[in-house]
Amino acid sequence: MGKMAAAVGSVATLAAEPGEDAFRKLFRFYRQSRPGSADLGAVIDFSAAHTARGTGPDARKVIRSQLSVSSVSDHDAHRAGLQPVSKWQAYGLQGYPGYQWHWVKQCLKLYSQKPNVCNLDKHMTKEETQDLWEQSKEFLRLKEVNKRRPRSLLEKLRWVTLGYHYNWDSKKYSADHYTPFPSDLAFLSEQVAAACGFQGFRAEAGILNYYRLDSTLGIHVDRSELDHSKPLLSFSFGQSAIFLLGGLKRDEAPTAMFMHSGDIMVMSGFSRLLNHAVPRVLPSSQGEGLPCCLETPLPAVLPRDSVVEPCSEEDWQICTSYLKAARVNMTVRQVLAIDQDFPSEPTEEKKRDITTEGFCHLDDENSQVKRAKLNPDS
Ligand code: OGA
Ligand code: MN
Repeated sequence: MGKMAAAVGSVATLAAEPGEDAFRKLFRFYRQSRPGSADLGAVIDFSAAHTARGTGPDARKVIRSQLSVSSVSDHDAHRAGLQPVSKWQAYGLQGYPGYQWHWVKQCLKLYSQKPNVCNLDKHMTKEETQDLWEQSKEFLRLKEVNKRRPRSLLEKLRWVTLGYHYNWDSKKYSADHYTPFPSDLAFLSEQVAAACGFQGFRAEAGILNYYRLDSTLGIHVDRSELDHSKPLLSFSFGQSAIFLLGGLKRDEAPTAMFMHSGDIMVMSGFSRLLNHAVPRVLPSSQGEGLPCCLETPLPAVLPRDSVVEPCSEEDWQICTSYLKAARVNMTVRQVLAIDQDFPSEPTEEKKRDITTEGFCHLDDENSQVKRAKLNPDS
């Protein structure tokens, strides 16, 4: 891959480690990348793909694909806070800017609440994690004046699981660990899946990732869902990230692309089981700023049966303060095929065989735990 080699050549610190695979090498390269520098020259920018700015060598990989325009009515799209499907750009589907605040607020204020499961549960009581939003509000307001204040609980939140709760140890979903999946997010997901040709998609499990600027998401494949013929949807908000999409094996060098606020990634078909990772969340180029699509005023008119709802000025201020140094990513999965059940529990023998390879989760720069052994609750 010529262009990757060129990019790599510009950084002295990137000596290949012996036996290091191509994916890991680029993961390290982008983890250390300098925003605004030539380091990022090879990262595909979907937001620039339809303009003259999409000139990087990998921009040639960007193709326009067809959407199923007739599968989602303009009204249902509007109800989900989306533009009519005819206006979407299929290499990187752009959410309707004015509505992004709804999903950010849900991730911070509502989805982080019980009965959903989060990384803080392991070390804290139910009472302590009861309302992260309420407990963090004042901290986040203070942040504007005092940068050295202690971290709020919301800033310690790393992941939340929805629906069939992903078990990070067994790497499995199970019938007996389920709570209702949020209906607004299910509706949004069904519209997006249908527009991509997946009618009848069911949002059964969600993993929400909360990134700080020093967070990374290790190289992994999402294979725990039992029906891989269904797509995996991923929605990004807040600060931009570099997303690496590799091959079926790690020795294939990945393609780097930006994930900006409002981008939706659909991994389906062949790409459903590809290696991927997030080596870098980028600080906004305007210093303490927010992506401009998040600065749009809230839409005045919503359909009567809208699933997105108005957000108060006060709530939006908290979201804004949080997002200045954060990225929120929602992934939505269908776990079971229609009429499929979870298989009966494996025997103790089998359990010991479960490999350690697979999903590894959000890691912070200052975490002492090595990625390979990372317990996702850290
Ligand atoms: C995941 C995932 C990617 C992202 O949660 O499985 O790959 O962009 N997230 O955060
Ligand atoms: Mn993933």
